[in-house]
Order: sequence, then structure tokens, then C-alpha cells
Amino acid sequence: MRIEYPHRHERFGAVRIHELTQVIEIDSGLGGAAEQAVIGGRRVHHVPATAINGIERRMAVVVPTKNERRKVIEGVLSGIPHDCTIVLVSASAREPIDRYGLETALLDDLASATGRTAVAVHQFDPGVAAAAAAGGLIDLAPDGAIAPGKGEAMVLAMAITETLGLDHVGFVDADNYIPGAVHEYTKSYAAGLHLATSAFAMVRISWQSKPKVTDGRLVFNRWGRTSQVTNHFLNLVLSTYTGFGTEVIKTGNSGEHAMSMELARRLRFAGGYAVEPFEFVEMFEQFGGAFASPHPEVNRSLIDVFQVETRNPHFHEDKGENHVSGMRTQALHALFHSKVCPDSVRAEICEFLEGEGAVQPGCEPRAETIYNGIVGLDSERFGRYLTKADTFRAFNR
Ligand code: GDP
Ligand code: CO
Repeated sequence: MRIEYPHRHERFGAVRIHELTQVIEIDSGLGGAAEQAVIGGRRVHHVPATAINGIERRMAVVVPTKNERRKVIEGVLSGIPHDCTIVLVSASAREPIDRYGLETALLDDLASATGRTAVAVHQFDPGVAAAAAAGGLIDLAPDGAIAPGKGEAMVLAMAITETLGLDHVGFVDADNYIPGAVHEYTKSYAAGLHLATSAFAMVRISWQSKPKVTDGRLVFNRWGRTSQVTNHFLNLVLSTYTGFGTEVIKTGNSGEHAMSMELARRLRFAGGYAVEPFEFVEMFEQFGGAFASPHPEVNRSLIDVFQVETRNPHFHEDKGENHVSGMRTQALHALFHSKVCPDSVRAEICEFLEGEGAVQPGCEPRAETIYNGIVGLDSERFGRYLTKADTFRAFNR
């Protein structure tokens, strides 16, 4: 992949957020070593396919899914590079049709036709919750059950990635209609993780456009309103601390993102749809320098956060305005309750939520659940219990 190399960034303590850069060539060939060149005034980095593949071999690509269409999931799976390990975490209904059964059949077919590696679990399997508890993830499985939610699925998937001994984890949604987009996302993850100079690295995707049919015509919109709102508030927090206005954060809601396990195992994660924006909040809180960090080794180093604009349009299931405003609200709740959020930003969040009718005047935003992530995971015990869970499936392992 040939990718534009960011030359500007904002710094918040150990967190280095690079400006948004573009994919220049989705495939830049096998040739040569990773190299930088200035082309047309832009700094461009060639990451050879061999380097990309080196990351893919050590990366899990997680597909969280909840009642998505079988054909769409099949397309998503086909877009994930062969050497990545697929980790499917499903919260799909099992009655009247066993959708999880259909999903694992898809994986089975793919794995036997290609020889690739995949693992699947169901989020509501009591055996999976028991494994989480046995592995020390007490807060993920209170009362013997894992709660519904995308964040919950992601924490579970990261515990599996850790147990498989992989070094990187990436996420792709199961409702993406364009397999080529999934392919480009994962290639961008690998390129970004390869370019990071720190062991603590994250790559977040910003899609170039989101196609919608309006009056019978295909219109390519840029960012949705949810992204704009979330990014606005995250940037506001950043500028309150640095004293300089900034719009560097463009990927607050990015569900398509990846990170090194070195970073993943040091972060807490929010439940539900607050999970992606909360990653920024958490990095600011723990590694921004305003508060003592439980992981001082990160503060002595840095976290590289790359933001990459991909070429494929982002075309996924339209779940309606309620769904979208619910996501926005969850993100703002999580930010509101963080100790890194200045009172001035809290006041603005309240004003916004009141305007949306999402809170009563007087503003007491709900506290979203925050999980300890996989800090303290006993992966040996977790793995031993997990393989005994009813819904656990492993292909070519
Ligand atoms: P959006 O694309 O950000 O609007 O969010 P989606 O509702 O499309 O969710 C993103 C991905 O997470 C999709 O593949 C969903 O099927 C999946 N997902 C959503 N909620 C859950 C959940 O509770 N558990 C699991 N395992 N997956 C979920
Ligand atoms: Co979606």
C-alpha cells in the first residue's frame, strides 16, 4: 500500500494524534523496502506487500455481528486478507432460526475452502461468560452473563486475540455491503501498524464518502452528523488542554479501527456504541499527563494514532435516525463522565443533549458502563474454559 505520511499531529501527553492522511495506492506492489518519497509535494510512504503480510499474520480481524444478513456477512468475510485470523463474535438471535448456526456454517465453508484460520463464539453463551470470569474479567460477566453491546463484544474478542497469542487486533463491521472496502480497511490497518514508531499504536479509518440514494440519484456525502458532533467535542477537550483550537480528530466514531495488543491490553473500554469514541477519552485520561497513569511505561514512550482516509465508499445497513442519535448520545455520556472532561465542555454537552431532547433540563447524563478491558486477563485459564463453551468454534487451529 502507498499511503500519505502525516506531517502534522497534535500531542496530548503521550498521545500523538496524526492528521488525516489518504491512501494513494491500495496495492503498491511487492518491490523494495518500506520507503518514503516526496511525490508532488506530498510525503508518501510505500509499505511493500511483504511488510503488510507480516502484520496480517499476527493480526486478528474481529467481526462483531448482530442479526446481519447472511449474504452481507459472507461478503465481509471474503474481504478479510487470508493470513489474518477471523474472530467472529455474534449476538444474533438463535430462535426461531439459529442465525449463529448460519454464521458459523459460513465460516466453516470459508475455512474449509481456503484453509484459513477462524474462531467464533456467541456473546450470550453462559460458557463464554464463565470463561471470562475464570480468566479474571469479572466486570465483563457479572452474574454469569455478558451484556449485549458492541463494546462488550469487542472486549471479548480482544481476550480471544490475546489468548491466540496475536500481536494486533482490527475490527470490521458485519453489515458492510462492499467487500473491497473491508479489504482496504484491513490493508490500511496493517500499513499503519507497520509505520508506527511505537509499540503502542492505533489506526482509525475515515471513509471518503457515504453513498445515499436521494431522489433516485446516488449522492456521495462526506461525514455524517454523528461523526461531526463526536469529533467536535473530542477536539474541544483536546484544545482545552493544549490551549490551541484544533480539528485534528476526524475519526471519533470510527468502528473500523485496529490497534496493537500492547495498547489494547492497557485500555479500558466502554460498553455499547460508546466504545469507539471512548478510546480517545481513555487515552487522554490515562496517558494525557493530566492524571497519574497506571501504565507509566506508555507515558515514557508514546501512542501513535493514525487516521486514514480510504478510497472505497462506506456503504452499510441503514439502521435509521433513532439508532444514529442513540449512538451519539452514548458517546457524549461517556465523555461527560470522564474526569478528563473540563466543566466547560460538560456544560456544552448538556446544552447539546437538551437541545436534542436526549436529557431533561438540569442534565444528568447516564453513566455508560466502563469495562477494565483485558488488563489482568489470565489467558491460559480463559482459553481452557472457552474451548469448553457450547458455542465455541475453531477452524484450522
Ligand atoms: P453503525 O454502523 O456504527 O451504525 O453500527 P451497527 O449497528 O452497524 O453496528 C456495527 C457492527 O456491530 C455491526 O456488524 C453489528 O451487527 C455489530 N453489533 C452491534 N451491536 C452488537 C452487539 O451487541 N453484539 C455484537 N456481537 N455485535 C453487535
Ligand atoms: Co453499520
